[in-house]
Amino acid sequence: CGIVGYIGANQAASFLLEGLSKLEYRGYDSAGIAVFDGEKINVAKSVGRLNALQKKVELEPLQGHIGIGHTRWATHGRPSDANAHPHTDCTGKFVVVHNGIVENYLHLKEKLAAKGHKFTSETDTEVVAHLVEEYYNGDFEATVQKVLSTIEGSYALVFLSERDPDKIICSKQDNPLVIGLGDGENYIASDIPAIISRTRKTYILSDGEMAVVTKDSVQVLNYRRSVPVAKKIFEVNWDAEAAERGGYEHFMIKEIYEQPKAIRETMTGRLAKDDSGVIFDELNWTKEYVASIRKVAIVACGTAYHAGMVGKYLIEKLTRIPVEVDVASEFRYRSPLVDEHTLTVIISQSGETLDTLAGLKEAKKQGSRVLAVTNVVGSSIAREADHVIYTWAGPEIAVASTKAYTTQLIVMALLSVYMGGLKGTIPPETSKELCHGLKNLPAQAHELLEDVEAIKTFAEQYGFNEDVFFIGRSLDYAVALEGSLKLKEISYIHAEAYSAGELKHGTLALIIEGIPVIALATQLDVYEKMLSNIKEVKARDAVVIGIGFKGDTEIDKYVDHTIFIPATNKYLTPILSVIPLQLLAYYAAVTRGCDVDKPRNLAKSVTVE
Ligand code: G6P
Repeated sequence: CGIVGYIGANQAASFLLEGLSKLEYRGYDSAGIAVFDGEKINVAKSVGRLNALQKKVELEPLQGHIGIGHTRWATHGRPSDANAHPHTDCTGKFVVVHNGIVENYLHLKEKLAAKGHKFTSETDTEVVAHLVEEYYNGDFEATVQKVLSTIEGSYALVFLSERDPDKIICSKQDNPLVIGLGDGENYIASDIPAIISRTRKTYILSDGEMAVVTKDSVQVLNYRRSVPVAKKIFEVNWDAEAAERGGYEHFMIKEIYEQPKAIRETMTGRLAKDDSGVIFDELNWTKEYVASIRKVAIVACGTAYHAGMVGKYLIEKLTRIPVEVDVASEFRYRSPLVDEHTLTVIISQSGETLDTLAGLKEAKKQGSRVLAVTNVVGSSIAREADHVIYTWAGPEIAVASTKAYTTQLIVMALLSVYMGGLKGTIPPETSKELCHGLKNLPAQAHELLEDVEAIKTFAEQYGFNEDVFFIGRSLDYAVALEGSLKLKEISYIHAEAYSAGELKHGTLALIIEGIPVIALATQLDVYEKMLSNIKEVKARDAVVIGIGFKGDTEIDKYVDHTIFIPATNKYLTPILSVIPLQLLAYYAAVTRGCDVDKPRNLAKSVTVE
């Protein structure tokens, strides 16, 4: 989603629409603006592309010098006029735009409804506007402070009040928000591209900060402690294109670094507070239904198929239900054996891949129930499926999928725990351990991304080899497949992934002196076997980069280099071990001067056969 705000001497709507147009690359399905005209706040919203809103505003201009705006990428509630931001309270005097997820919104909505608040949308954001109305005591700042301490979750929030029309208040937690400093006017935006044509002087808000913005001043305070914060001006020197990438050189690396947040958001509201299990309000399955599933069929393409491979291991281990995984282009033409006792799981970032959609239709035709796992609300696959679990990765722009994959893995883990819990195949301690492990993942992913120098060096050192092999066993094999695909896609290096035990049946013939082999060794139940495979390739003089757990001193003895990942539950390792492989592919592609975000011959969304 994208956020903008303006206060100053000029017409607010003209900046709001211009700013939103600069944020359209972040994905959109609806947009809206709210402008104070001197007496009241007027709101215009429209589902669809921004030009639908622009046309509306051309016909009925919104006059005024203070306003806020938003482009939406749906999470709670489908794309529609009603669900588009800004959201207002019952009186229309308070307006809010929001990026992120208010975790406790259902609970708050019930409480507010009991007090007579009427809601007009399905969004979590609308609750925030009603909370402002509920708490308002004549002091706008104190009211917003109280609202912020009531809501849980992640947000960038901007508030406008008809009763206090000389200021905009905004705050953030885990979502970006910047304030652009002008001369007699100030700007607010979720991302720098929105304001770069107007000013290069900015304040970048930190988590827990709240800013009160007037046309001539910006006061920042830590809203929890009510103490002022002295902000330093950040002078933006990026060009417009670099600004879209948040200052990163490519979208792919930006998206790799967005993974801790994407992982956290995908788990939001889905883990029981006491770690006892997984909640999927969107499924609400019964024990009887899960007990009636005789087979799970996972269908997907590309990276999503690799997430399905991980899903197979997890679902089988934790639910004891047999799982088949197919690439969609095979599944749809092989008269798959699915029926009313099969749960077909369709995984697709875009929700539009033609083969995957055809696989979904085939499964439905055979009487199977279909669960879609997708990143795009309202996509074709989401619409056709019986149930949908959204990955909340946010828009993914680079062709090579990264954050969509890790969030698909999160959903696979959550789904296995959910189904295993209902089926009674997971002991409560295991469920607890898994929930606990999941909660730690965002911080662990962040830790991995903090120190990438070694990976960069390997990529530079081995980036000019023409062949690379990836080996692993069990879940490590599934991750090896994804690591090899990433490298192929963006660096054009010939890469192959093998289950390490299969090497001796052919591939070992290709291992010669100096060939890089990436060996994943995070699966402790097959660890010794994996070490034997590492020795096999070392004996042929391969250069081995091992991926192991921090503190594993054994692996170091047999490999040339090791990349360590933080210790986690054995079922969750793929979510961490893939990160160094994504980075390796990225830096290899950069070393080779490849067009990282738009690799040759490939497309982000493949809507042809
Ligand atoms: C294309 C993309 C891949 C993606 C695959 C499936 O090949 O380049 O990155 O994994 O399609 O896309 P989907 O949107 O269905 O996940």
